[in-house]
Amino acid sequence: MQGIEIDNLKRVFRTKLGVFRRTVKEIVAVDDISFSIQPGELFGLLGPNGAGKTTTVKMLATLLIPSGGSARVMGYDVVRDAREVQKNIGFIFGGERGLYWRLSGIDNLRYFASLYHVEPDVSRKRIPYLLELVGLKERGNERVEGYSRGMKQRLHVARTLLHDPPVLFLDEPTIGLDPVGAREFRQVIKSLQAEHKTILLTTHYMFEADALCQRVAVINHGKLAAMDTPEALKRFVQDLSVIEVEVYGIPAEVVETIRGREYVDSLAVENQEQKQLLLVHSFRGSQVVPSLLADLNGLRVGRVQVREPTLEDAYVRLVGGEV
Ligand SMILES: Nc1ncnc2c1ncn2[C@@H]1O[C@H](COP(=O)(O)OP(=O)(O)O)[C@@H](O)[C@H]1O
Ligand SMILES: [Mg+2]
Repeated sequence: MQGIEIDNLKRVFRTKLGVFRRTVKEIVAVDDISFSIQPGELFGLLGPNGAGKTTTVKMLATLLIPSGGSARVMGYDVVRDAREVQKNIGFIFGGERGLYWRLSGIDNLRYFASLYHVEPDVSRKRIPYLLELVGLKERGNERVEGYSRGMKQRLHVARTLLHDPPVLFLDEPTIGLDPVGAREFRQVIKSLQAEHKTILLTTHYMFEADALCQRVAVINHGKLAAMDTPEALKRFVQDLSVIEVEVYGIPAEVVETIRGREYVDSLAVENQEQKQLLLVHSFRGSQVVPSLLADLNGLRVGRVQVREPTLEDAYVRLVGGEV
């Protein structure tokens, strides 16, 4: 197959603890995951911080050796045929440096083109084309130091496309971008689809996966929690109601009591300034509000709202309330 195939992939990290470094702690970052990505598919890998997204991508990009299982990119094994895999991929890791700020956008691309041994004849045509693709055509002659973060991130995309790889790994590429920059960046990702690239995008924003991806895999603690289209994941919560309650200083015991109630399907707490937002998922709708408020008796409660579930809620439910 020409896309990406992942079979029982696993990665364990061993860290030594203690003064004499005798205790070895094992962290199973990726725990036996399997899925495949079709050629030309824009596939989302979604999960909270520490879920194992970056570790998965690094193994696919040949930057980390798997502890178990196997993976193939464009039919090449990521361990045995690492060199072939490298020729077929481009990647961006969130918050990456690696552009020359004193050079213009065009000169950065010229420099990387020669580094990647792109034929001068090819890069002469390809560089203006890529600048246009990432929306930097008018700004290519300016120094990168004057670019916004979003523009820099788009230049990274152009850089990674210089050798025209069929497969792209984008690891949380919109992290740290302002909302406008992130929206423009998502537009660029969309346009890459017209180029028939196979794209693996990791994100912890459900709406981003929803807006862009044909299919989404949700991972949590290194394990696959779900894999489906965004529409199917939404159906997973269609009969659910979400009750949002603002509470000022909720003790952990109260959270745990509520979590254990039979009317609660799942529960998440979002810390906000001076208060917490309690997100309660229930299949009983607004009728649970009195029981919930009774459990919060004695605490200062702000706004209470019952709303329809979103894809974000499907995600919260899948990862058991960790957001
Ligand atoms: N080099 C490393 N050494 C030890 N532990 C690591 C290393 N890299 C990642 N981990 C751990 O593996 C788990 C998964 O990390 P990561 O793949 O970066 O998650 P994500 O990208 O989803 O936030 C986390 O618990 C993280 O602390
Ligand atoms: Mg990560």
